[in-house]
Amino acid sequence: MTVTIVGSQLGDEGKGGVVDLYGDAADVVARYQGGDNAGHTVVHGGEKYKLSLVPSGAVRGKVGVLGNGCVVNPRTLFDEIETLREKGLDPDVRVAERAHVILPFHRVLDGIEEDVKSEDDQEVGTTGRGIGPTYEDKAGRRGVRVGDLLDPDVLRARLEYVVPQKRTLVEDVYGADVSDLENPDAFDVDALFEEFREIGQRLDEQDMTVNASAFLTDAMADDETVMFEGAQGTVIDIDHGNYPYVTSSNPTAGGAAVGTGLSPNVIADGEIIGIVKAYLTRVGSGPLPTELGGVEGDTPGYDEQGDGENEELATYIREEGGEYGTVTGRPRRVGWLDMPMLRHSARVNGFTGLAINHIDVLAGLEEVKVGHSYELDGEELLAMPPTTEEWGDCEANLKSFEGWDDVDWSAVADEGYEAIPENARSYLEYVADELEADIYAVGVGPGREETVVVENPYE
Ligand code: IMP
Repeated sequence: MTVTIVGSQLGDEGKGGVVDLYGDAADVVARYQGGDNAGHTVVHGGEKYKLSLVPSGAVRGKVGVLGNGCVVNPRTLFDEIETLREKGLDPDVRVAERAHVILPFHRVLDGIEEDVKSEDDQEVGTTGRGIGPTYEDKAGRRGVRVGDLLDPDVLRARLEYVVPQKRTLVEDVYGADVSDLENPDAFDVDALFEEFREIGQRLDEQDMTVNASAFLTDAMADDETVMFEGAQGTVIDIDHGNYPYVTSSNPTAGGAAVGTGLSPNVIADGEIIGIVKAYLTRVGSGPLPTELGGVEGDTPGYDEQGDGENEELATYIREEGGEYGTVTGRPRRVGWLDMPMLRHSARVNGFTGLAINHIDVLAGLEEVKVGHSYELDGEELLAMPPTTEEWGDCEANLKSFEGWDDVDWSAVADEGYEAIPENARSYLEYVADELEADIYAVGVGPGREETVVVENPYE
């Protein structure tokens, strides 16, 4: 039995906490997409761990696997492992030989392309980690895979093919001079070869590379319990999100099969848990029909649809929820919960259960709203439309709920679901009914102890 954790919104739903909670019963926690653009915060033993690449299960001694669908920046990988070791942990992380490597020029290109797009206000607001350019090279069949790092001849040949192309791209398309860049070595075959050959040796010596498909299959054959940890969220999925304001991978449940090398039957035999934040936040550009507000100047795409009148409320929720990007520190745009988005997400992923987080953040508000449906060209829509332009034209039909008081949430977590204030329960049950999925957990604070567990998927 496997459990797949999927972000149902725009990322930052609090997946780390749920992985941490349910992952307790897992032996192996595998990521299937994305790279060090993710931000997982795990609180363990009073210590806060911020991870962007290593699966968060590593904090609790689980075997972490970065599947073939991931893009791996080895510098981040080793930095995070080192940080965990400094805190007295002994992380066991395996990396798929089929995963692609984020090379230094990918980050540079991510930055250049965002700068160029920003001249016409078209920037995606990426995390700048080189994610898109690395997946581009994967699809373009010119990428470098983790397995290539283990064979110096292959590595050299791959670099000799791809690096001159990138140089030409920077100089002839973007009109920049590579030698003027902050990191000209990012475009130097010899420098890259030396650094990444050594990384390959290190991965090999530490026995870190695996055939993820075989490794996970063997683990399950040995009765080990596996969890799939999705990063980002459904609405920034390259296929099912609001293109082009998306990441370049598939955070949706199907990605768990493709990105690990396991059959879709394995994923479907298990549970697929949708993580929902009780309101909405977004760190990059793009529409947001239920938007309350962003931070002018700091937030790409700020207040594109909101009227700005709710700025105070947005600020209140942002501060209460600590809504600043884990990777970039950027203030997040804030909106009400968006049901058409969640209905789309439930359909794409097939959630068997829901974990709804952060209901404590909304406590104390007199009224809590949700976008129940959209109005587009005089028609009511229950699910978000496929084009981002149409989505940008949608107006949310808001539904109002009576607010709930701030209570002792730790006590609520101890006592269980019935201890949740009644108005909050009405809110939760509305969401579960609309999505036709059961509530498995309710997050009432940042620590994993501050979770009301209704259902443990592994039991
Ligand atoms: P990229 O993944 O860095 O290419 O960024 C593409 C889009 O996905 C941007 O809007 C980012 O803000 C967003 N994004 C990437 N990773 C995360 C995440 O972990 N949480 C929320 N948004 C993310």
